[in-house]
Amino acid sequence: MLEKLLRKKNVVSDHSIANRISGIQNRHIPAHVAIIMDGNGRWAKQRNLPRVAGHHEGMKTVRKITRIANDIGIKVLTLYAFSTENWKRPKLEIDFLMKLPGEFLSTYLPELIEQNVKVEMIGNIDMLPRHTKQAIQKAMEDTVNNTGMTLNFAMNYGSRLEITESVKAIAKLVESGSISSEDINESLIETHLMTKHLPEPDLLIRTSGEVRLSNFMLWQLAYAELSFTDVYWPDFDEVCMLNAIEEFQLRNRRFGNVEGEGNA
Ligand code: FPP
Repeated sequence: MLEKLLRKKNVVSDHSIANRISGIQNRHIPAHVAIIMDGNGRWAKQRNLPRVAGHHEGMKTVRKITRIANDIGIKVLTLYAFSTENWKRPKLEIDFLMKLPGEFLSTYLPELIEQNVKVEMIGNIDMLPRHTKQAIQKAMEDTVNNTGMTLNFAMNYGSRLEITESVKAIAKLVESGSISSEDINESLIETHLMTKHLPEPDLLIRTSGEVRLSNFMLWQLAYAELSFTDVYWPDFDEVCMLNAIEEFQLRNRRFGNVEGEGNA
């Protein structure tokens, strides 16, 4: 399957990459990888290009990383594509960013279907422009029965808002008498988050040298391993992804305990 893909798409011509994928597959594969795709603007600036050119190039990276993540056997790939704070950006940039899901999906949806990828979204879809919403909804409908990797776009997503909404919903349950405040526990909170059906991220990657979470999956990342790279998102390629996962596999995750099993 992998060999076929390599030949057909010329994804990774280097066989050492295929070997590295096999090596990764012999160890513990992170079930859920979440990525803060940062550095598009700086990538463009370095080349005297408008910021949107960086976002457009970043879209191509989404394709590459989706493909290799699926090849590796990652179950869920969550990509932070637009935050609730990104509405503060200039209108032209917002309009461009809102067109990218449509362009990405109209170009690559057949390929995602062929790869058995399921498209999902977290964030408030209702506030998105109609064309963005329609593109995402169509992709979700067309891939709903796919059983491979879930490609989860965080669009108009903010973790504090997500937690606030979940607290409100739980408060209503208490108010109506369906539960008592004593019934509130971590799993009840989890079942009110937008990620309720997903495993929690094992690995968070942030590109571009910034070292912060920027309101991304604050609850869900409690025990994730964090990986920061100086590479700008448009330059983040298959090798960068393999590096991050191999590094993850060397970490010793203890989840607060004293002795860990490691990830091997
Ligand atoms: C942050 O870089 C990036 C974003 C706010 C947008 C990310 C979007 C993409 C990579 C394209 C998404 C594609 C699809 C298919 C939805 P920045 O603009 O803050 O970069 P800077 O910090 O260098 O200015």
